[in-house]
Amino acid sequence: MSRIAELLGCRYPVIQGAMGVICNPEMVAAVSEAGGFGVLGSAFQEDAEELRRQIKAVRALTDKPFGANLTVLNPHCTEMAEVMMDMGLKAVTTSAGNPGPLIELLKPQGVKVLHVCPSVDKAVKAQAVGVDAVIAEGAESGGIQGVEAVGTLVLVPAVCDAVEVPVVAAGGVADSRGFRAALALGAQGVQVGTRFIASTECIAHQSYKAMICDSSETDTFLVRRTEKILVRVLPTPLAMEVRRDPNRGEAIRRQDIGRAWIQGNLEVYTLAAGQDVGLVHEVKPVARIIEEMVAASAV
Ligand SMILES: Cc1cc2nc3c(=O)[nH]c(=O)nc-3n(C[C@H](O)[C@H](O)[C@H](O)COP(=O)(O)O)c2cc1C
Repeated sequence: MSRIAELLGCRYPVIQGAMGVICNPEMVAAVSEAGGFGVLGSAFQEDAEELRRQIKAVRALTDKPFGANLTVLNPHCTEMAEVMMDMGLKAVTTSAGNPGPLIELLKPQGVKVLHVCPSVDKAVKAQAVGVDAVIAEGAESGGIQGVEAVGTLVLVPAVCDAVEVPVVAAGGVADSRGFRAALALGAQGVQVGTRFIASTECIAHQSYKAMICDSSETDTFLVRRTEKILVRVLPTPLAMEVRRDPNRGEAIRRQDIGRAWIQGNLEVYTLAAGQDVGLVHEVKPVARIIEEMVAASAV
């Protein structure tokens, strides 16, 4: 059994990556029911009670294990961690910053922590502060990225060589070829984002799903949010404006994310997605995505 499946208590080492406001309880529960590990997002949440409601909503749909993400950049991150512990989550992912202070809070309560790392250096530091696993996320992935921009094919084996904790590969894994490749590189599992947006259960607006299914591998690009933060996005008119004029990015309001991602107003927020949009052509139920992904592997 993969060390990641064992750590998380799930059947397959397939983690559904946190995706801000579109990790709805129905999708998270569907991933866990299908043998993967569903993850709720909290990056854009200000009200920890909303997270509590979401955890209860997932529990009403499945008795399988699932987790939640703590994005260090969120100023309410500690409150979110407290709700996760209070609600008895057994594993969380951490990202976008130093996981050290969160680990001090979570580990004494027995919560497993998997930290997202864009470089060997950050993976080694994460191991040193006590993470249970690292998620090596390559530059082809959707969402927030560091400035390192190392592709998954190089990053994963380099991280595997440098740490002893199990490694999860993220970025560009959308089907059974990516899954098998990740295992061949030394990873014990995968974290998948973009492929799950184009799932029946994901709450993302139909125009977001359609754009993912219609895009090719060259269509996404990185836009700058701050000096140290880049985001890989789809080529909406707003994203093109931000690419031309990075100052335009500062006018985008975080609180408008749901209006774009869930309600389909593409003028107010950019749409995050990975280069693997080029491998996603059809909206499918979560269970089929996972079955097809693991089908040709002995996991
Ligand atoms: C729309 C979107 C939103 C994301 N939001 C988050 C987030 O809130 N927290 C986080 O740790 N990672 C986030 N990510 C990264 C994913 O969890 C995952 O690591 C990544 O999507 C993997 O690459 P892939 O898109 O090629 O599958 C996001 C990715 C996408 C596509």
